[in-house]
Amino acid sequence: MNPSTLIIGLMSGTSLDGVDAALVDFSAASHSHPHILATAYRPYPMRLRDELLALHQPGHDELHRAAMLSQELAHHYAESVSALLAQANISAQQVRAIGCHGQTVRHVPQQGYTLQLNQPALLAELSGIDVIDDFRSRDIAAGGQGAPLVPAFHADFFDSSHSHRIILNIGGIANLTHLQPGTPVSGFDCGPGNMLLDAWIQQHQQQAYDKEGAWGGSGTRLPDLLDRLLAHPYFVVPAPKSCGREQFNLSWLKSLLRGTEAPVDVQATLVALTVRSITDAIQREYGVPDELYVCGGGAHNKSLMARLADELPDTRVATTDTLGLPADWVEAVAFAWLAWQLLQGKPGNLPEVTGARGTRLLGAIHPV
Ligand SMILES: Nc1ncnc2c1ncn2[C@@H]1O[C@H](COP(=O)(O)OP(=O)(O)O)[C@@H](O)[C@H]1O
Ligand SMILES: [Mg+2]
Repeated sequence: MNPSTLIIGLMSGTSLDGVDAALVDFSAASHSHPHILATAYRPYPMRLRDELLALHQPGHDELHRAAMLSQELAHHYAESVSALLAQANISAQQVRAIGCHGQTVRHVPQQGYTLQLNQPALLAELSGIDVIDDFRSRDIAAGGQGAPLVPAFHADFFDSSHSHRIILNIGGIANLTHLQPGTPVSGFDCGPGNMLLDAWIQQHQQQAYDKEGAWGGSGTRLPDLLDRLLAHPYFVVPAPKSCGREQFNLSWLKSLLRGTEAPVDVQATLVALTVRSITDAIQREYGVPDELYVCGGGAHNKSLMARLADELPDTRVATTDTLGLPADWVEAVAFAWLAWQLLQGKPGNLPEVTGARGTRLLGAIHPV
């Protein structure tokens, strides 16, 4: 067996923005933090993004389209892996495994499945490295949501023996982890993170996302619309819960518009929706935490970060950079950690978070 402690984590999330890759060394993990040796971000071409988005809906010849896109994704993953190896100047043989999330196109745990496109056999062939993927299915098979999976990593990495903390990941979907001394770790998907913000600006400004949150920050929040959005039943469903584009999408948003709103004001209202759905959940479930640390692409959205701080005046709001893990790489490192857990015969899920019947080994290994 390859004795290496180097693992590559590959994360491509619901934002459909691209692939985050991190090469991580777990050699000292029992004493200190895993160490990041290299990182790479590879955006998806717009066409790939559109084709992946289209697969979230029923459509013509989906099996063939999914199989073709899975292969294309494997090539993207392999190129991310090459970029990491070149950056760190190490060979594929020195890496123990790749932990690859795949690209979610359907997430329906209530019907017993979640579907991440990937071609792990092809990725193993292209990279020459063992590939571990399909992290979510086993948790669902054990009665869980299969999500969120990052809280176990957050708990391990962001030790919180002295303070009452929340780690908040604002990706396409926002999910949080609650860390408080003497309390079991908990967490859930709060609702939309960047997903609606991206969809709306793309439709009205032909941009993939609202850079620094400048456009949304220049609009005026519409209180009536915000109330209608916050009335979505998901927000009051008790945890364990997880969500995706199935619950929050452009058609749902449009069904709640009167048609007279200025697009920039809708964007401002969507920022408020992301913030309020998060802060309402925090206050309802956990009261007033001492600290909130944000990771994921949403940490770059200045109007979102400013509103979060406004809504939580008695909580210190910062990014995970402060804790030694840059906000952009938390999820990729988390999937390296999940692969490392499996290789060590350790579980990756937290039953209190996902609702599974117990802890489980997560992931399927595709050896070289
Ligand atoms: N500079 C930025 N300004 C504003 N938003 C940003 C910026 N960079 C990234 N984002 C947002 O973050 C998203 C990607 O976040 P990410 O954590 O990769 O989510 P996911 O895990 O869903 O892929 C982008 O789609 C965009 O909405
Ligand atoms: Mg992403």
